[in-house]
Amino acid sequence: MAVLRFLLNGRAHEESRISPTTTVLDYLRIHLGLTGTKEGCAEGDCGACTIALARRTGDSYVTANSCLLVVPQLHGASVLTVEGLAGPDGALHPVQQALVETDGTQCGFCTPGFIMAMFAFQESGEPARDDLIHEALAGNLCRCTGYRPIVDACRRIAATPSAQTYAPVPRVQDCPDYGETGARFLAPTTMDDLAAILAAHTNAQLLAGGTDLGLLFSRERKSLPLLVSIAHIPDLARIASTASGLEIGAAATYNAALPHIEALYPSFGSLIRRIGSRQIRNLGTIGGNIANASPIGDTIPCLMALGAAVTVRSTVGARTIPMEEFITGYRKTALAPGEFIEKIFLPKPQPGETFTANKISKRFDQDISAVVAAFAIRIGGGKLISIRAAYGGMAAQAARAHALETELAGRSWSLEALGDLESLLARDFTPADDHRASAQYRLSVAANLVRRLCLEMNGNAPAALETL
Ligand SMILES: Cc1cc2nc3c(=O)[nH]c(=O)nc-3n(C[C@H](O)[C@H](O)[C@H](O)COP(=O)(O)OP(=O)(O)OC[C@H]3O[C@@H](n4cnc5c(N)ncnc54)[C@H](O)[C@@H]3O)c2cc1C
Ligand code: FES
Ligand code: FES
Repeated sequence: MAVLRFLLNGRAHEESRISPTTTVLDYLRIHLGLTGTKEGCAEGDCGACTIALARRTGDSYVTANSCLLVVPQLHGASVLTVEGLAGPDGALHPVQQALVETDGTQCGFCTPGFIMAMFAFQESGEPARDDLIHEALAGNLCRCTGYRPIVDACRRIAATPSAQTYAPVPRVQDCPDYGETGARFLAPTTMDDLAAILAAHTNAQLLAGGTDLGLLFSRERKSLPLLVSIAHIPDLARIASTASGLEIGAAATYNAALPHIEALYPSFGSLIRRIGSRQIRNLGTIGGNIANASPIGDTIPCLMALGAAVTVRSTVGARTIPMEEFITGYRKTALAPGEFIEKIFLPKPQPGETFTANKISKRFDQDISAVVAAFAIRIGGGKLISIRAAYGGMAAQAARAHALETELAGRSWSLEALGDLESLLARDFTPADDHRASAQYRLSVAANLVRRLCLEMNGNAPAALETL
């Protein structure tokens, strides 16, 4: 049994006795008595449990939901909780002072979480732009104060860089083999070691950011015999631009990949900004999203429409699978036993092709999609030359709309010529009725997204559409 080592509020901290599936939230509150960090939902939605993490030397602090992390994920990191923000003389941190001065707190339950989100926003050096402030605070809920004074406090601190410094992230070389038979946590540092572990242990469960898997420990209070983290494998965190496209390692977080994806496909970037909250995107990965193979996983339709490919690896070598073939059913993938996702390849935009991604949900922020639609389309001489259309939320798995694609090719690119898109889509999908949307709504919205694209590309989108 190894020892977990990390910095906690600037002090070296060691742990060797806690179960590997204990959440960081429980650890802080129950085991260490650091009750400033609050529990609201225990499923990543409210932000009351927000802490700040710096993973590697030179990284700035980013937010994370402590309810979704397990303690061994902290190994090698520097962790700050609200208790660690005050100055050495006990003076309030400027973020705390700003909340006091703007009357940004009432019952105070949400306040530590907001403080940590505002602290990370300040540390990021982002300008005091309202869109960035709203994005930074979208993962935190307040039931009583109202958001105006909280946003006011964030505007103040964004303009004033923090003078406080925090201890650098420790250099931890060892790879933890933590826990005992029955509940063990491994964190290999090479792909070969990872492949060997998966070959030797058929019960191993891979862990990337833990924003899906973490719910098992946090909400369902389950344990797993063997968790294998990929977060310490530098090759899997790599993002590389090649002549033909972008390679995104399976351990690269959404926020690390975002600027690279946004530069190629702004619309895909905008969709990623709506996946969960910053707290979620600081941990979660595209690799985890596609491995989970949820019918409403937001990146899957985008990757299908873009013609992306997934490289998977095991002890016998690597193979590359087109994204469409990677998803094989409801929460099923083409991964064979012993295989893991190594990277996702996104081809560069093709000349003359337009790509657009859409997420339809009840709320703009922090919401699960009712429908996700992505289109890669080529127009010439007023006609639709080709379209790759992929949808999520329309069936048990995300999929291309082949009937729609075939029927639309060659038609005039006008609203009139598109005709009865709902009937075409009904040949591709039989959507379900559920609490997120009715089947009829799903078909209508899926069709209307094609109409909207047509209006936008023809430059005659009504003003109301442009604000959607
Ligand atoms: C509050 C909240 C909001 C969310 N909002 C959204 C949203 O808006 N849109 C959306 O699509 N999703 C959303 N999610 C779901 C989740 O954040 C995403 O699916 C995310 O991409 C999962 O990535 P991860 O790295 O956290 O995966 P993990 O939880 O670490 O793993 C998920 C699954 O993938 C497997 N896995 C991970 N990496 C690999 C690999 N390299 N090879 C093989 N298998 C692997 C794991 O074993 C596990 O089965 C949300 C989740 C929460 C808690
Ligand atoms: S307790 Fe609500 S996000 Fe963690
Ligand atoms: S101050 Fe009461 S929940 Fe925000």
